[in-house]
Amino acid sequence: MKFKKILAAVAAMSFAVAALAGCGGGSGSSSSSSGAKTLKVASSIDFAPFEFQEESQKDYQGFDMDLIRAVGKEMGREVEIQNISFDGLIPALQAKNVDVIISGMTINDERKQSVLFSDPYYQSGLTMVVRDNEESIKKFQDLKGKKVAVQIGTTSAAEVKKIEGVEVKELNTPADCFMELKAGGVDAVVNDRPVNDYYIQKSGATGVKALEEKLTAEDYGIAMGKDNAELQKQVNEALKKLHENGEYDKIFAKWFGEKK
Ligand code: ARG
Repeated sequence: MKFKKILAAVAAMSFAVAALAGCGGGSGSSSSSSGAKTLKVASSIDFAPFEFQEESQKDYQGFDMDLIRAVGKEMGREVEIQNISFDGLIPALQAKNVDVIISGMTINDERKQSVLFSDPYYQSGLTMVVRDNEESIKKFQDLKGKKVAVQIGTTSAAEVKKIEGVEVKELNTPADCFMELKAGGVDAVVNDRPVNDYYIQKSGATGVKALEEKLTAEDYGIAMGKDNAELQKQVNEALKKLHENGEYDKIFAKWFGEKK
């Protein structure tokens, strides 16, 4: 009697698992192999409002975090997120320690040499932050002869190095860059626009301001291993679904307000 009950419970459970896996396939004709395998995600949790951690909370938060959890759900895979410093993300992917990166990572040709990118999921670009009382820096060209902090391994680092006569300080996180600016160790921070804006508006940062001028226009993508075209296809299908069913817009509105 007891044994039968256990059997029934096991049967019900495996049915539930199969149903879960089945509904996430996205394309309808989902290949059987995608099962309930965990989707291992790497992100550099230092980039509000895309990926950050609030002291009181154990789960990582942000636009990217919500998006990748939704992508995982579409794929019928449990999502497990690891915090890895930005310059360690691509190496972690190459070592196959993780399946994908989502980290406000800009799609560019250099990175395409070592990873595959999903379709773009967010339009971004670089701006700069200076101290409130800064008079001599109004545009990027004014950075000549100035000290500028950037996060190591980012497009900001690469772009600022192209401006002649800039002394570039590469630090571990955007927060380190802002701290250095406030402490007077650098004259400006170059970083992604939405992160600069969030820092100034939401975190109540005082004594600093973001400038309007954009140095670049950039698109963010989810990255996966060079040899993982199948996963790339699945991620793109999931993203497409989320655009179609309104879930993407919901997540966008949660972090950035309604789309203009
Ligand atoms: N978009 C820039 C890049 O791809 C900066 C990304 C930084 N991301 C982060 N989570 N810290 O280089």
